[in-house]
Amino acid sequence: MRYLVTGGAGFIGSNRSNNYSMKGTKAIVPNNYAAGKKPERHYDGATYVEGDIRDETRLVRLCRASRAFFTLLRCRGFLIPLNSPG
Ligand SMILES: NC(=O)c1ccc[n+]([C@@H]2O[C@H](COP(=O)([O-])OP(=O)(O)OC[C@H]3O[C@@H](n4cnc5c(N)ncnc54)[C@H](O)[C@@H]3O)[C@@H](O)[C@H]2O)c1
Repeated sequence: MRYLVTGGAGFIGSNRSNNYSMKGTKAIVPNNYAAGKKPERHYDGATYVEGDIRDETRLVRLCRASRAFFTLLRCRGFLIPLNSPG
C-alpha cells in the first residue's frame, strides 16, 4: 500500500512519512524544497520525488499510484483538486 504525503519532507509531514515507513506502508513524498532541503527529515522506506504539486499532470499521476492522499503543506495560492482522479 502506498500513501501520497505532500509536505512529507517538512516539519509536520516528515513525522507522518516516518510513521508509515515504520508500519510497513510506503510513503511517496513530492517536494519542491521551497523551504530548503533537510536530509534529517528524509526516512528510509519513503520515496522522495522532487517537483511541485501545482503541476497537475504530475499530481494526478502520483494520486493514481497511491491508496490515500494526505496533504501537510504550508503554501498559499492554489487549490488542491479534491475530486477523485479516477
Ligand atoms: N509547524 C507547526 O508547528 C504546525 C502546527 C500546526 C499546524 N501546522 C500546519 O501543518 C502544515 C505543515 O507545516 P510545516 O511546519 O510542516 O511546514 P514546512 O514548511 O516544514 O513543510 C512544508 C513542506 O512542503 C513543501 N512544499 C511547499 N510548497 C510545495 C509545493 N508547491 N510543491 C511541493 N512541495 C511543497 C516545502 O518544501 C516543505 O518541505 C501547514 O499547513 C501548517 O499550517 C504546522
